[in-house]
Amino acid sequence: PTDQSLAGINVVITAGPTQEAIDPVRYISNHSSGKMGFSLANAALSMGANVTVIAGPVNLTLPTTIKRLNVKSAREMHQAALDSLPMTDIFIACAAVADYRAEEVHSEKMKKKADTDSITLTLVKNPDIIADVANASNRPFCVGFAAETNDVEAYALGKLKRKNLDLIAANDVSVGGQGFNSENNALTVFAKDKRFDIGLNNKKEVATQLLKIISQQYEMRS
Ligand code: C5P
Repeated sequence: PTDQSLAGINVVITAGPTQEAIDPVRYISNHSSGKMGFSLANAALSMGANVTVIAGPVNLTLPTTIKRLNVKSAREMHQAALDSLPMTDIFIACAAVADYRAEEVHSEKMKKKADTDSITLTLVKNPDIIADVANASNRPFCVGFAAETNDVEAYALGKLKRKNLDLIAANDVSVGGQGFNSENNALTVFAKDKRFDIGLNNKKEVATQLLKIISQQYEMRS
């Protein structure tokens, strides 16, 4: 039988991209498929957890035994994450949150201008969801992701500290065939003074191994 070490534990996972509206028909987003986050949700469920997924717009389904909150923008995802805090033991931020959104969302479709070849869109910073969750007074055990192209360890450890996380799962997105929008992934997981390597495998297997590490470190939390 599978390891039931998360029995009764409330796990909240953000997954997928966010969509930042520009006007009623246009938005800013990214290529995140949500596969890694959804694989983590299934792995947590099979270990006995009560699982909630806060999902950006993705074309994936979940078992009905997983609670799903659908959101579009980073601000909606942020609100859903903060609302879930009283019921969260472990928070895993797998979503590819847009760093910026349009300062102004036009209520009507923007028209192409005949008299100019360029227009300017002003962007403002979105809230950092996991940093705000990790700094809440009732903070859960917090796990973040870091997609890096170089100096993976240094950047991941920097994010771990800056965002006040318990664990960070880093992947090298400069290596082909893994990570972003791919079927496979490989991760190096860092705690303040520990590291664990998860070799290249399909996202389901990588998710199972990552959840085992999370569950063990959660048990050992101080
Ligand atoms: O700083 P960076 O975007 O690389 O950090 C990635 C980690 O932070 C991921 O866990 C991601 O889900 C989370 N994040 C977030 N809210 C943001 C930006 C990133 O929760 N606005």
